[in-house]
Amino acid sequence: MMAILSLATALGLFMSTVSAHLKVLKMGTTVDGTTLPVRGWNSWGLQAAGYIEAFDEVHVRAQCDQMYSTLQGKYSLCGLDSGWSRDGGDENGIIQYDEKKFDLPNFANHIHSKGGLLGVYVVPGPFVSDYNKTIKGTDTKIRDICNHEYGFVRCALNYDHPDTQNWFNSNAAQFAAWGVDYIKLDFITPGSPEHGDVDLVADSSREVIGWHKAIQKSGRKITLQVSWKLDRSKKYFDIWRANADSMRVDQDVNNYANKTPLVKWTDVQRDINNYRDWAVTALSFYDVARIHPNMDMMFVANGPEISGLNEDQRKTIFYHWIGASAELNLGSDLTKMDAFGIALLTHPGLLSAASFTGRYPMQPRNPSSGGNASKQLQAWISGPAPSGELIVVLANYGRDEGTGGYGTDFTGTQTVTAGWRDLGVKVEGRYRCIDVYSGENVGLRSGFSARLASYQSVMYRCSKGR
Ligand SMILES: *[C@@H]1O[C@H](CO)[C@@H](O)[C@H](O)[C@H]1NC(C)=O
Ligand SMILES: *[C@@H]1O[C@H](CO)[C@@H](O)[C@H](O)[C@H]1NC(C)=O
Repeated sequence: MMAILSLATALGLFMSTVSAHLKVLKMGTTVDGTTLPVRGWNSWGLQAAGYIEAFDEVHVRAQCDQMYSTLQGKYSLCGLDSGWSRDGGDENGIIQYDEKKFDLPNFANHIHSKGGLLGVYVVPGPFVSDYNKTIKGTDTKIRDICNHEYGFVRCALNYDHPDTQNWFNSNAAQFAAWGVDYIKLDFITPGSPEHGDVDLVADSSREVIGWHKAIQKSGRKITLQVSWKLDRSKKYFDIWRANADSMRVDQDVNNYANKTPLVKWTDVQRDINNYRDWAVTALSFYDVARIHPNMDMMFVANGPEISGLNEDQRKTIFYHWIGASAELNLGSDLTKMDAFGIALLTHPGLLSAASFTGRYPMQPRNPSSGGNASKQLQAWISGPAPSGELIVVLANYGRDEGTGGYGTDFTGTQTVTAGWRDLGVKVEGRYRCIDVYSGENVGLRSGFSARLASYQSVMYRCSKGR
């Protein structure tokens, strides 16, 4: 990959200035007061592929311990997906861990001793088998707060009942007592569109409000992620960002294959296109987004025989997940990371870029037009921050496999060029840019141009001065 440099003629003659002609996408703080998103690992990719030998404490611990040691503490979340809890709650209908698989409080202690965070997974509502149990601290039976059964042998809640909030509160208090740090709240609607034969209610957005209130009442800092492919209309976007820290932008990106490969490129194309739409939508509604877009898992830690990805694809995924406000969630087999994966995931320049994009998520600015439609040859910009600092990503996603949203199929190496004007930024004077991966100084430019083979990307980081 050769970057074509074009030095500005005025190098050094002007004071350095950068002005944004675009609206900068800013993250700000989420509703629980945090800025940077949680990074880590989630079990679903390996579970869904039938790859993990067993979904239990021994096997999850092996993954997470490897993450803490090999990735040098840079990834904290050990996230349990579906299957950690048993069917039916305790005597108050409070969700319980499956004792045959996990001793959750002990596991939480172990994770915390490594400096990590423990995540659990829930879907809406109590179990219908708990209908005759009494909600903790009340005289109300679970059946009194339920409208009817839906798909997961659980009930669709009556959110208007005065004791419904107490059911959420009792669960969040239990999770807090165990030491849970993160909740993935799945199958929320509107969203979760392709749910097959799961009979979801049309609108469970008040479930998110209920969990958020309950988490606040629990007194423990617990991050709330809502899933999946949440509705992005203004009405619901407002609800997600007022109650959760992150929202899934796409459906599952993992491949439901028999073990390997863990992901397909066509699903990555779809995911990136959904992020593009998320960014454009967030910009159209808000000055400050206040909720992280979650792109689901990255399968970048393993070589091609497990991941199905070559090194260019692994870099492109990592750059895009970093650009998308850097909720870096791994799905790989962390006991089988290769040297390339470890180097990528611990790359100091890329992780430093992630702390910038966590505050300034990237937005699409198309080469030669500055537009925001999906393109095979795409440019993105993160920032500029008030300091003038910014990050640019150029990409060639390869042939559209039907999900990329761009419909073109240039094959072979392409030149991707984005001038400052395309990127929506005016730059004068001394400006220093580096290729983040190689660290190579690419100097002051009139913009960016790179020769990119299919699936290749490049990330530049620029700041004022030398
Ligand atoms: C709840 O109690 C009623 C009345 O005793 C009984 O008919 C019903 O089967 C019970 N439901 C459950 C889920 O235990
Ligand atoms: C995206 O592009 C459309 C069509 O050109 C434009 O109307 C819209 O304002 C753009 N949105 C953002 C956030 O730039």
